[in-house]
Amino acid sequence: MVDGERANPPSDKALERRTGRWLRSEPFECFVQVAPGLEGALAEELRGGGFPTVVAWERGGASLALDHADVMRANLVLRTASRVLLRIGSFAAATPEMLFDNVGRIPWELHLGRSDTYALRITSRSSKLQAGDGVANTIARAVAKRLRPLGLHPAPAEHATLEFAIRIVDDRCTVSFNTSGEHLHRRGVRRHVNDAPVRETIAAGVALHAFRAHDVIVDPFCGSGTLLLEAADLVAGRLPGRGRSFGFESAAWHRPGRWREVRRLATARAAEAAAAPAPRLVGMDVDPEALAAARHNLSEGDHAHVDLALGDATALDLDRFAAQRGLVVANVPYGVRLGERADAATTLRRFLERCAAATSPWDLALLTTHPHLVREHEALEVEHMRTIASGGLRVTMVTARTEGS
Ligand SMILES: C[S@@+](CC[C@H](N)C(=O)[O-])C[C@H]1O[C@@H](n2cnc3c(N)ncnc32)[C@H](O)[C@@H]1O
Repeated sequence: MVDGERANPPSDKALERRTGRWLRSEPFECFVQVAPGLEGALAEELRGGGFPTVVAWERGGASLALDHADVMRANLVLRTASRVLLRIGSFAAATPEMLFDNVGRIPWELHLGRSDTYALRITSRSSKLQAGDGVANTIARAVAKRLRPLGLHPAPAEHATLEFAIRIVDDRCTVSFNTSGEHLHRRGVRRHVNDAPVRETIAAGVALHAFRAHDVIVDPFCGSGTLLLEAADLVAGRLPGRGRSFGFESAAWHRPGRWREVRRLATARAAEAAAAPAPRLVGMDVDPEALAAARHNLSEGDHAHVDLALGDATALDLDRFAAQRGLVVANVPYGVRLGERADAATTLRRFLERCAAATSPWDLALLTTHPHLVREHEALEVEHMRTIASGGLRVTMVTARTEGS
């Protein structure tokens, strides 16, 4: 090619051939990310979903080899996962030159195809190369150098459907394609939120961890209803990703026909796993505004059967639900603001008294900043405690049980 002459971009057929060859090289090295502390819940989901054995666990996620169908399925079905990253490069990068050369060896055309833009999310730790414009420009130059001769000219952008995670640790760089796109806690449903809504992925972790075969599920501090939404979807076998799109749908290697088949099979399989008979779901909150948000979120379609009422959890009477085996799920007030901690502790103490007063057996799955109050309660038997990073806050997920009096 003469300088200044622009190559023709590859034809549809040529791109399909190249990406098809790459797809046949499955399985791909992937990392399923989760909120730190929720690894146990993710492990259960991966096992229950028939995903391949995890190669390595680290705080915040699991490395495993997924085939093309499982990359799509993981995004669609995993309730606790935050992102599914597909590793496309891993190399030493102690200098900008090393970074440039190695980034240029990655077959970007397989992922970007004829896309106009892509986004880079760069993090760096214990390394000479720092996250910032310098690294971003080096990567963008290397991508452009590789793709120009192929007639492809994508430009880096702040936001784009095709997003790549660049992680530099100890002078080693890992480049991953974010197959999820937006974080998976965004379920694709517009929601009304009140104070301190919990992330859907964490709410799912609570519901999953506790759920066995309960006939009644109550959230006495329901706020905008996130825990109830997740519990309702779980027991009904509705897939968390059913209402949204994913980053992989924009990749050059995407095959819409295979995706439709993965969705069809996963939807059928989840429906088979639905709890039968369905438990009764009940939400309460002392604040009318919070309850209005919950009513909005739980008023339609799939969730219209959830009972909601104003109520004070410190006066809760679990016996009135006449449960054989009930489950209380709750994100109890944290009291993180000055002067509210004592109030939050008093509320939790009184609420635990009400749980302990139940005459039938109840399981509890709570998110709390006061786990010691649950552990120290003589009528409650604690099963698990996990500290979870929830936004900027560390909360503890506690599961406990009371056998009834
Ligand atoms: C941390 S928020 C729960 C947020 C909820 N999980 C969500 O995602 O929106 C705690 C909720 O407890 C409610 N609350 C505080 N004290 C209460 C009490 N004594 N009885 C019932 N609800 C209470 C608050 O109004 C607030 O909505």
